[in-house]
Amino acid sequence: MVSKLSGKVAIVTGAASGIGKAVATAFAAEGASVVLADIDTEGMSETDASIDGETLTIETDVSDSEDVDKMVEDTVDEFGGLDILVNNAGVGTFGHVTNLSNEDWERTIGIDLNSVFYGSRAALPHLEDSNGCIINTASISGRGGDHGLEAYNAVKGGVRNLTKALAINHGPEVRVNSVSPGFVLTDATQDFQENEAIMDEYEERIPLERGADPEEIASVMVFLASDAASYVSGHDLVVDGGMTASAGQPKFAKHLGLEE
Ligand SMILES: NC(=O)c1ccc[n+]([C@@H]2O[C@H](COP(=O)([O-])OP(=O)(O)OC[C@H]3O[C@@H](n4cnc5c(N)ncnc54)[C@H](O)[C@@H]3O)[C@@H](O)[C@H]2O)c1
Repeated sequence: MVSKLSGKVAIVTGAASGIGKAVATAFAAEGASVVLADIDTEGMSETDASIDGETLTIETDVSDSEDVDKMVEDTVDEFGGLDILVNNAGVGTFGHVTNLSNEDWERTIGIDLNSVFYGSRAALPHLEDSNGCIINTASISGRGGDHGLEAYNAVKGGVRNLTKALAINHGPEVRVNSVSPGFVLTDATQDFQENEAIMDEYEERIPLERGADPEEIASVMVFLASDAASYVSGHDLVVDGGMTASAGQPKFAKHLGLEE
């Protein structure tokens, strides 16, 4: 059987942990040569050691445009081209607009949104040559507001719409899509996982009644990167166990006694 990404060269940012680690692992399992990019060198080495396949690790701060340019240059030098860029590294920042510092706001924009601009700018000439694709990790937090996550809401909305702008401006050569996870069981959500009230609310709001394993996001990215998605561009694929399927109305059936 031919692997889905055989012969492809992919960069995955934020590959030291969580979703990025699962994506790098899944891409390698499908035959891609994978560049792991992260600021966490120790975590990257652990990811690297756990992957059975061709890899290269490049220490990268995705909020630094020179670092990101180098990440792409080193990849092309090593593998002779680039087929897939996954702009995945990101952080969530808690705080209301009324108490967020300039530093927190700008740091969030730097890591979550500027990174997508820098990565896409550096990679697009190579992706145009290879008829490649970009996949951005957005979030359901980019489709509405959250309580106390205003900076994150802003950047993820930006990632989602920048994805669409890139798709319309860089077709037909390059496909550009985003994935919007809901609640994923990674280090980034450890505090949520340990908070009973938050977990109770998640269980009530998520039809599948659980958080996603990072591998369940990675499998969707494999699809978007593969020929199976050859006509998919400009799309934001929500992977949230149904959390945002609700229209947000009261629980009529429960309150009107219609449930058994
Ligand atoms: N976990 C969730 O529930 C969830 C939901 C929706 C979207 N997301 C998004 O998924 C992506 C991955 O998150 P995760 O849950 O796997 O988190 P994670 O904390 O497990 O992984 C994030 C990775 O990004 C790296 N990183 C942070 N700052 C960086 C920088 N400046 N340069 C390079 N690398 C940097 C970290 O070292 C880490 O390895 C993020 O964009 C996040 O916003 C996560």
